[in-house]
Amino acid sequence: MSSHPSARPTNQSSVQIPHDPGRLPMTLPLLAEKKRLGDPIVMVTAYDYPSARAAEAAGVDLVLVGDSAATTVLGYSATTPVRLEDMLVLAAAARRGLRTPLLIGDLPFGSYEISDEQAIATAVRMVQEAGCDAVKLEGGGGTSVQRALAIVEAGIPVMGHVGLTPQTATALGGHRAQGRNAEQALAVAHDAVALQQAGCFSVVLEAIPAAVTATLMSQMEIPVIGIGAGPATDGQVLVFHDLLGIRDGLGPRFVKRYANLQEEMNAGVLAYAEDVRARRYPGPEHTYKIDPAEVAELHTLLG
Ligand code: KIV
Repeated sequence: MSSHPSARPTNQSSVQIPHDPGRLPMTLPLLAEKKRLGDPIVMVTAYDYPSARAAEAAGVDLVLVGDSAATTVLGYSATTPVRLEDMLVLAAAARRGLRTPLLIGDLPFGSYEISDEQAIATAVRMVQEAGCDAVKLEGGGGTSVQRALAIVEAGIPVMGHVGLTPQTATALGGHRAQGRNAEQALAVAHDAVALQQAGCFSVVLEAIPAAVTATLMSQMEIPVIGIGAGPATDGQVLVFHDLLGIRDGLGPRFVKRYANLQEEMNAGVLAYAEDVRARRYPGPEHTYKIDPAEVAELHTLLG
């Protein structure tokens, strides 16, 4: 037993997660069924145990450990610096907070482009070491489609991601909406369909005009999850830190903010700092008690 009264249990697999015990774990057939029924699919990113617990408690369908972790939790200015090793640590932490959502691990930049073998090896690590149920990769061009096919053939479900693909944002002219003329919109449609044909179980459409999405949906048999792609998709995804306001600034146009946690965190830490400086913390209720006789004996022992 721990000598510290407030120590948490260390068995990582025995966490107590508030959940609806009747909710079934999400599976690929259940996801396809949701599309068939027109039942909106909810996806959110998570990067650690508490964010995963929030996703679990909300009963979301899909959790993505996105490479957006690079900017949201690791402090980089782009997604490209995040390494596979970083993603494995974050995804494993999220896994420990989840019971029912399908967990998808994003393949970071540089971890799948080189060869099919590299892509399969990376996907296997995401499943084996982090406990992901599926992986996601960016892009709908020949290389990404080929890699998606290879990973699917290796037995690991793949989610595609087209439109604005942040790993290659520089080549796309920056973080801006894609498919804003007929020719570019057709390219996005071709990418999405190619990933579908490669066997992806779902595809993310990021930052494309709502009317393009609405047109494209008639081609899509697999669930389509939108982010900045309008309301016509089968589901929506938002970045945890964007929707909860754990960031500076408002973020992209498509973000709806549901809380202002950065402000709350700043205020909380400031209040704590002020309490310590003013000797208001700790109070009597935060201290451990001891029999005065024991203290007297201690004085004697110390001489
Ligand atoms: O990395 C990420 O968070 C993503 C979502 C925006 C879909 O790819």
